[in-house]
Order: sequence, then structure tokens, then C-alpha cells
Amino acid sequence: MTTALGIDIGGTGIKGARVDLTTGELVSERIKYPTPEGGHPGDVLDVVETLLSDLGGKAADHTGICFPAIVTHGVTRSAANVSADWIDFPAAATFAQSLERDIHFVNDADAAGVAEAQFGAARGVSGLVIMLTLGTGIGSAFLIDGTLVPNTEIGHLEIDGSGAERRASNAAREREGLDFEAWGLRLTRYLSHVERIFSPDLFILGGGISKQHDEFFPFLEIATPVKPAALLNNAGIVGAAYLAGNALLD
Ligand code: BGC
Repeated sequence: MTTALGIDIGGTGIKGARVDLTTGELVSERIKYPTPEGGHPGDVLDVVETLLSDLGGKAADHTGICFPAIVTHGVTRSAANVSADWIDFPAAATFAQSLERDIHFVNDADAAGVAEAQFGAARGVSGLVIMLTLGTGIGSAFLIDGTLVPNTEIGHLEIDGSGAERRASNAAREREGLDFEAWGLRLTRYLSHVERIFSPDLFILGGGISKQHDEFFPFLEIATPVKPAALLNNAGIVGAAYLAGNALLD
């Protein structure tokens, strides 16, 4: 069995597991720690080190880490919902040096999209699939015939004078106390705009809330087919491990 370690760093939690790269299944316990207050890189690195040692990780293990920011060539370039210390931070090199192993650093939604393309709702789908993760922010992954176009960041499209994630993320739903119908309208406004610009063949909606898709999908009024993510909250872990194991996005 070929395995790799996947770690998903988020604004509230840092979780990780060992992943079977052939099936996309977790083959260890899934371990989760809270994200340290402030989310500064050094503190996050300490938690990742503990997590890797909990998982019995070895230096030879392929290790992928996904993170909620633009990531180009291992450097984090933005910080929408995380500490500004991550802007232009050489994350892959810094983590690799401290953890004494190769590290693949990728955007969290891109990792989730790759996982869905390999093992989930986008598997075998041709044309353009747009995956959107609905959490604290809105992350996006574009897959063209299963190949990722990284760092698309369309959660930051401006709609009606606000960034889309401000209005339509799951955090916006919670913050404003929206019921599923009202949130469904917000999502419809956003998805129709994306549909008009990109004409995708399929939307996949992920993030923890996708478990409750039965409650809000009925309120989505768009022409493009929409599916919930199949890997739910493990998509980031699985995709990060897969990308590391296949030496993609170096
Ligand atoms: C960030 C993205 C990230 C998304 C989901 C957005 O605020 O800009 O990089 O993928 O949140 O975490």
C-alpha cells in the first residue's frame, strides 16, 4: 500500500491523517488540534510537528499540507482569514527545514478539489468542474478534465459591492443568522454569477456544511448541475496527501 501524510491547516483546527493513495481512504486515526491563537506560522509549525509525530510520521513519508491562502511554489501569498505573517512566507521551505522532510504546501480548496477529482464527486467528469468550499471563507478549485488550475480564488469575486465570501460563506450564514432559504438565495446569486462567467459543467459544494446539503440544495436555482462533495471534511487531508505522493504542484 502506498501512503502519504495529509495535513489540513484551517482557521480553527489543524487536522491530519495517513492516506492510502490508491483508494483515498484514511488508514490512520484522524487527529485534530485547535489552531493556536493568532495562527502565527511558528506556532502552527509546532502543532504540525506534534501531529506528525502522533501519526508516527517518518522523514521518508510524503507529506502534504494545505492552507487557506494562495500558494505559489511553496510560498503563501495571501491571508484572508489568517495571520498576515503568512503573506509572502516561504512556508514549504520553512516547514521542510524544521520538520526535516520534503513538504508540499498547497491551497486548501485546491487540495479538496484534487481529492474530489481522484476519489469523489468529480471523478471521471469531463469539462470544467468548479468546486467551492463553504466554510469561514469560500475556497475554489477549477478542474479541467480532472486537471487542477491552481489558485483561482473566486471566493473573492465582488458581487453587489461585497466580496462573495463575506455574503455567501457558511460563516456569513452563521454570523447573520440566515435560515437555509435565505442563505440559498445568497448562494444562488453567487453561483449564477460564476455560471455566467465560466459556464462550468458541474459545481461541487464542499466544506463541513455540505453534510446538510439536503437542507439548502432545494433553494439553489441555477442551470448547472450541483453535487455535494463526497469526501466532506476529509477532502483537504486526502488531496494534500495525494499531491505530495504524486509530486504534483512542486
Ligand atoms: C482564501 C482561500 C481559501 C478559502 C477557503 C479564502 O479566504 O482566500 O485561499 O481557499 O478561504 O479556506
